[in-house]
Amino acid sequence: MSNRLNATPNDLRAFWMPFTSNRQFKKEPRMFVSAKDMHYKTHDGRTVLDGTAGLWCVNAGHCRPLITEAICQQAGELDYAPAFQLGHPKAFELANRLVDIAPEGFNHVLYTNSGSESVDTALKVALAYHRVKGDGARSRLIGRERGYHGVNFGGISVGGIVSNRKMFGTLLSGVDHMPHTHMPDKNAFTKGEPEHGGDIATELERIVTLHDASTIAAVIVEPVAGSTGVLIPPKGYLQKLREICTKHGILLIFDEVITGYGRLGTPFAAQYFDVMPDMIVTAKGLTNGVVPMGAVFVTSEIHDAFMQGPEHMIEFFHGYTYSGNPIASAAAIATLDTYRDEGLLTRAATLAPYWENALHSLRDCPHVIDIRNIGLIGAIELAPIAGEPTKRAFSAFLKAYENGLLIRTTGDTIALSPPLIITEAQIDELVAGIRQVLESGI
Ligand SMILES: Cc1ncc(COP(=O)(O)O)c(C=O)c1O
Repeated sequence: MSNRLNATPNDLRAFWMPFTSNRQFKKEPRMFVSAKDMHYKTHDGRTVLDGTAGLWCVNAGHCRPLITEAICQQAGELDYAPAFQLGHPKAFELANRLVDIAPEGFNHVLYTNSGSESVDTALKVALAYHRVKGDGARSRLIGRERGYHGVNFGGISVGGIVSNRKMFGTLLSGVDHMPHTHMPDKNAFTKGEPEHGGDIATELERIVTLHDASTIAAVIVEPVAGSTGVLIPPKGYLQKLREICTKHGILLIFDEVITGYGRLGTPFAAQYFDVMPDMIVTAKGLTNGVVPMGAVFVTSEIHDAFMQGPEHMIEFFHGYTYSGNPIASAAAIATLDTYRDEGLLTRAATLAPYWENALHSLRDCPHVIDIRNIGLIGAIELAPIAGEPTKRAFSAFLKAYENGLLIRTTGDTIALSPPLIITEAQIDELVAGIRQVLESGI
């Protein structure tokens, strides 16, 4: 017998939605029922232009035929294979395809099911790597204020967004944070990488001096921070972090969950900034967001350090039931095919100048206090309503949705990251729509 309070099929109460104002949503639901390329269709029959690639993941646009076909075919051929001590060909094929587009030296991939799991996997690899090298005192992890690394305990410990941390006790021990790089007083309305703030990286030296390098395993940063409102690294900042990590034998992890797979016009942000970390954390665009999957890229040096001891022994005690799942692997291979066939891993580089000019044309709109952009990422920061932070941006989100535009807001910032197939005409439509929202008295 059903224990539902109300047995109508569209009863919304049972699903406790993630990162959502549940009570507000359930009074005025916003449902997508289908999607194609750059557009969603809503439950009330409207078309919505996707300005955010879903949640920064649908890089090739929606319901792409190669991906759909690959998933259907795989589901009928091999639905599941145990991930431990057994394999299936597509997981290996995918790993080879991935290392082909990764920067030189990233020759190995561990699979996960999400960005959060990829982050925790990378942190665990870092700790274990030092230990297998006989340097087990290196147990500290360094993140950054305002960093977002998903919602698992490792990720929220190194992350720096207060609301994501404060409810959850003392988190991982031995974690410290570098300061964030956001300097609106000096860098507002910068196009691309800001001039000021590169030297903030030297704060890492201070942290190393405080704890001693011999206790620090890894530093993790998003090359471009997304969820905290799009913070673009100041010129020279990432290079400096790399230098300091190298000098002290600390591993540098780039969390590329949003920048991976073409967002900046190169396959990965490491290539865009020409700064090579020791691990690259990815998810989202790996399967075009269609099937949950993540991948952590590691160098041969890290991988090979684990390949010791008796051959029948498991080298790294970590993995998930769904690591390299056949349907996810098939979706990811078809996604890489789509990216390759349509040049999507570099298309953002071509569109970036148009995107930049279009976004910065909004500078004169009401409430706008900063505009930031890089690759096909944009942010429009709004002055908060006095005493009601986040409300203005949330009103903008609701109004945009009613007007047929999907934008995303974090704090009082509108964050934009459209599918990489967006056209110039659609960029104009997105920007004109945002202007209309900002001028509508929010
Ligand atoms: C930089 C970064 N890391 C990790 C994550 C977590 O990914 P997931 O939501 O797939 O766990 C996100 C999600 O937005 C992200 O932006």
